[in-house]
Amino acid sequence: MDKSALGLTWNKEISNRKEKEHIARFVALRAADGELIGAGSGSTSFLTVLALGKRVETEGISISIVPTSIEIELAAHAVGLSVVSSMDRMIDWCFDGADEVDSTGRLIKGRGGALLREKIVFRASRKIVVVADASKSVNRLGKNYPVPVEVDPQWVRRVFDDISQMPSVAEVTLRMAVSKDGPVITEKGNLLLDVRMNKIEDSDEAELMKMPGVYETGIFSGFEFERIMG
Ligand code: A5P
Repeated sequence: MDKSALGLTWNKEISNRKEKEHIARFVALRAADGELIGAGSGSTSFLTVLALGKRVETEGISISIVPTSIEIELAAHAVGLSVVSSMDRMIDWCFDGADEVDSTGRLIKGRGGALLREKIVFRASRKIVVVADASKSVNRLGKNYPVPVEVDPQWVRRVFDDISQMPSVAEVTLRMAVSKDGPVITEKGNLLLDVRMNKIEDSDEAELMKMPGVYETGIFSGFEFERIMG
């Protein structure tokens, strides 16, 4: 494989690809020369990075990216975007996908395992654009996806017990890797617990964050964002 192609393929077939490509092109058109942009993870964000790369190639503009995962960083390098590794300022705006969006604007994120940096980038951005196609809308948060929780490996047994005792929790599982033995290891060397919940209360995010060993949760609430659905 040619080194320049590293990062240019997605690891599985992209669902709703046409709609996601449409969203990606639309969002990429918003980038202005010289901007610092946070790039989320997941296939819609990946397609948006490719669309930004096209603009850099055809229009000669310069865009710097703050990536939220290794796969997005590789894609950004492959299409000629500058990648910022050390942050000392706010991000002009960011785009990111979601696994679920409810009618009050709460999100579940982290199917791709990048929730920790995704939430940092949300907090560090002046404006947030959520690139979530229509299939992500739910009438009950937690309907289709578990809530991922990023946990320090040393504390995972304790956190597993603590979460299992929450009344709204139906099931907790350690996320296992597919092309590696053992669990998924995140970009920060942590583990992920996937938590199926019958009902997600506004207080659940804070309750999970209080547990010793929990670094972040995939419940994103209280963020103002614009949603682009295609
Ligand atoms: C990544 O960790 C998630 O938060 C993604 O944003 C989410 O899984 C969206 O994925 P797709 O764009 O592939 O649907």
